[in-house]
Amino acid sequence: EMGYADYGGGPSMPMEHMQHSGTSVADLTGPKTGIPNVNVTLTARKQKFQLASGETVDGFTVNGTSPGPLIRARVGDLIQVTFVNESVPDGATLHWHGIDVPNAEDGVAGVTQDAVPVGGKHMYRFKATAAGTYWYHSHQVSADEVKGGLFGPIVIAPASPGEVVATIHTYDGKRTINGRTGTGRVDLPAGTTARVRVINTDNAILRVGLVGMPFKVVAVDGRDIHGPTPTTAAYPLAAGGRVDLEAGVPAGGMRLDAGTSSTSLAIGPADPPKAELPADNVDLLTYGTPAPLGFDPAKANRNFEYRIGRSAGFLDGIPGLWWTINGHKFPDVPMFMVAEGDIVKMKISNTSSQAHPMHLHGHHVVVLSRNGVAATGSPWWTDTLEVGNKETYEIAFVADNPGLWMDHCHNLPHASQGLVTHLMYE
Ligand code: C2O
Ligand code: CU
Repeated sequence: EMGYADYGGGPSMPMEHMQHSGTSVADLTGPKTGIPNVNVTLTARKQKFQLASGETVDGFTVNGTSPGPLIRARVGDLIQVTFVNESVPDGATLHWHGIDVPNAEDGVAGVTQDAVPVGGKHMYRFKATAAGTYWYHSHQVSADEVKGGLFGPIVIAPASPGEVVATIHTYDGKRTINGRTGTGRVDLPAGTTARVRVINTDNAILRVGLVGMPFKVVAVDGRDIHGPTPTTAAYPLAAGGRVDLEAGVPAGGMRLDAGTSSTSLAIGPADPPKAELPADNVDLLTYGTPAPLGFDPAKANRNFEYRIGRSAGFLDGIPGLWWTINGHKFPDVPMFMVAEGDIVKMKISNTSSQAHPMHLHGHHVVVLSRNGVAATGSPWWTDTLEVGNKETYEIAFVADNPGLWMDHCHNLPHASQGLVTHLMYE
C-alpha cells in the first residue's frame, strides 16, 4: 500500500492509528497564498548515475544528481518546492529534516501525506523560520531511497564567502563528500573565516572535524551554540544530524576529516597533508556557556518515559529481534500525547545493545542531562540525538507545532524494523 507507509517492507501502520481528534493534518499547512521567495522544482528519478568523482551508482537522483541541488533561503522567505516523481517505483516524498515546518508540509508518507506515485507531483510551501543547516530526503521506504541518493542539502542563511557545504554520504560502500570520493579541495584565501556546514546523511555516527587549525562548533542541528571555544577534538555527528564548524583558513590550508582516511576535503589555498583526527570528542554537555532556554523545564506538565529495548518475537508475521519502545513493538507503541503549549520532559533510555540516533520531527529539543549528569555548557538544542547503548538522556521542549509527528531512529533500517513512535497533539 503506497499510501501507508514508510516502513520499508516491514510493518505498515493501520490508518486508525492516524486519526486525529482535533484539527486534521490536512489543515495544518504552510501559507497557501503569497509569492514564494524561493521556488524550485525537484524531480526524483531511479537511475544509474555518476558520482562527481566518476564512479557509477545505481540509485536515486534529484534533478539528475545525488546529492540533489542545494536549496538556499533566508529567514522569513516563503519556500515553494514542486516535487515530481518521475520514476521512483515505490513512490517518494520530501521531508525537510530539521526544519520545523507546519505538519502537512512534513513529507512523511503514511502520516502527513501519501507517497507521490510515479508520474505524480506534490507541492510543499513553508516559511524559513530559523537560520541553519538542514537537508531534505525522501520519507517513503527511506531506508532504501535515502541510501540510494534521494536527498540534498538546504541552507537557511545568506551565502558567505567562507561557506562550505559538506554533505556526507556513503554510496555502495564508498564514503563521499558532496558526491565525491577521494580528496577534494575548496579554494579559499588564507584568513577567510570558513563556516563548514557538515550534514550526515548516513545511518551511522561519524567523527568529523577540521584538521590543521583549531575550530569552533558554532551550530548543531540548525541552532547556534552559545560561547563556543576553539577545539581540536572530533565532533561525533549523529546520523541525520548537522554541525557547523568555524575556523580561520591558515596559509597551509586545513582539512575536513569525515571519519575515513580515503575521503576528505581540503579547505584553503593549499592542500595540506592528511592527518588523523585525535581520539577525543567534543562533548556538548559541557561545551560552550549557558544561555536562557526561553522556557522552564522544571515547570513541565508532561513527563514521558521512552525506553528503547529489543525483544524476540514477530512483526507482521516475521520472526526476528525487534526494537521495542516502553516494551511495545511497532505498531502497538503508544503515542506521546501533548497539548499545544505544553512543556514536555522526556527521559530516553536505551538498553537495546545498539546506539540509536533519535529524530523527532517538527520540534527541537534541549538536552538537560546524560546519565544523570546535568548539562552545563551551551543550551544543546537538537533534532537528532545519538542515544548510545546503556545511556539515559533527559530532554525537554515546548509543544508549539500542532500535528502528528514522527519520532524515530535515523539509522533508517532500524526505523523500518519498528523503532518508530509519534508525538500527537490532542
Ligand atoms: Cu530525516 Cu523522519 O527523518
Ligand atoms: Cu536505531
